[in-house]
This record gives sequence, C-alpha cells and structure tokens, in this order.
Amino acid sequence: MFQRKPLIAGNWKMNLDIDESVRLVKAISRGIKSSETVDVLLAPPFTSLSAVRQAIGNANIFLAAQNMHWEKKGAYTGEISAEMLQKTGCTHVILGHSERRSLFNETSEMIDRKVQAAVHAGLFPIVCVGETLEQREKGQAFEVIEDQLVVSLKNFREDQDMPSSVILAYEPVWAIGTGRTASQEEAQKMHQFIRGWIRRNFGVETETQIRILYGGSVKPENVADLMSEPDIDGALVGGASLKADSFVKIINFK
Ligand code: PGA
Repeated sequence: MFQRKPLIAGNWKMNLDIDESVRLVKAISRGIKSSETVDVLLAPPFTSLSAVRQAIGNANIFLAAQNMHWEKKGAYTGEISAEMLQKTGCTHVILGHSERRSLFNETSEMIDRKVQAAVHAGLFPIVCVGETLEQREKGQAFEVIEDQLVVSLKNFREDQDMPSSVILAYEPVWAIGTGRTASQEEAQKMHQFIRGWIRRNFGVETETQIRILYGGSVKPENVADLMSEPDIDGALVGGASLKADSFVKIINFK
C-alpha cells in the first residue's frame, strides 16, 4: 500500500524578526529525532526567508512562504512571485489560508491562479480550505469545502490531472488560534470527504498520493490522536510552532 509520509508544517504568520527566526530554526533542527519518518516544514515571514534558509543548512527542513502573487513580475507593489520565492530557497508555499481569504479578500479564483503559478515554477503549494463556525452550525461545512476545492483547483479539474506535489490543508476557521480543535472524528470525517472528492475528480492514484494536513489549534497534547486517523497526513501548526519545545514535541509525535 502507498504510504503517505506525514508532514508537520509550522506557519509563523506575522511573527519573529530575523534573529528570532534563526534562533528558533536552530532549536527546532536540534530537536528533530528522525527525518525518515516525518517531513518538517517552516513558513517564516518573507523577511526571514533567506536567513532561515541559511540556518537550515543541511538539516531536513523544507522552507515555505505564506503567500505569493500569480504573476511572474511587474507593477504589483508589495507582491512577491513564485520565482522569487524559489530563488530564496523555498520549496513550498501556503496558499489560500483563511486569514488571506477573510482579511485580504482572497477568493478561490485568485487561489486557483496562484496554485497554477506555484506548480509551474516548481513550488509545492499547500492549499488551504476551511469553513466558518456559522457555516458549520448551519450544516454547510461539506458544501463550503467542496465549493472551495472546486474553484481553488479549477485548472487541475479541467485537465483532470493534479500533480502529487499538491498538498491540501483542512483548517476549520473556528479552530484557528482559538484553542478549540476539531475532534479527531470531526477532522477525519472532513478529510475522508476531501479524499473522496479527489478520487471522483482525479482518480484513485492521486487520491492515495495527496497529503491532507489538518490545521487549527494543533498542540503536543492532541497531535498524536489527530495523526492516528487514516486520512490525516500531517499538521499545519500556527501558535504552537512559535516555540521550539512545543513544535519539536509535535514533530516527534510518534
Ligand atoms: P493555530 O493556527 O495552530 O494557531 O490554530 C493554524 C493556522 O492558522 O495555520
């Protein structure tokens, strides 16, 4: 059977200056027990990317940005392209995080363009989807997630082909930064639904290869239970990735 390697990703959001970032990477890198059993990824702010890349050295840690623009270059003040990220040493990019969607009005159409640009530039996109509390309480969670997938991955659907380098992340908005995690059953149910959607759109091979991360108040205390579910292939960690001890415990969850 195809084994999906777990991925533990730290999303630092708008936190840590360059020195703090370098200190944190070094501490994390010392704490990783085995890169054979788990992939580790860090997503610092843009300003720390180069320094973090250097501090990673030969350690097995992937570097990601938290966002990018879909154009290659031009008059887009304040934006960064996939090529620029790649040249800075990034291998991955987080796209469509709920904070980007809700605070900066990013739509799934925009995310689709970004996903395409990332893949063309050779970056692995981590595409986030998630429903709000209101949507969940109205019983719309599955419908909302399906809509976000349909539009955010529109180009792949048209080609009926999605590269296995794409990573999906289910992050219920009501669980992000709130301390309230989805129960492992709730999370598994949605992950299973997403995997079924991948099968219907891209076939069994893609379904078995694509990693689906869970995000939303992941901490050392709940990571093992979440990771024991068959369709949860990793974690996208915000708050608990800002401290070496908690993030290292999450990485070494086994
Ligand atoms: P959190 O954030 O772990 O602080 O809830 C997760 C995320 O937003 O990626």
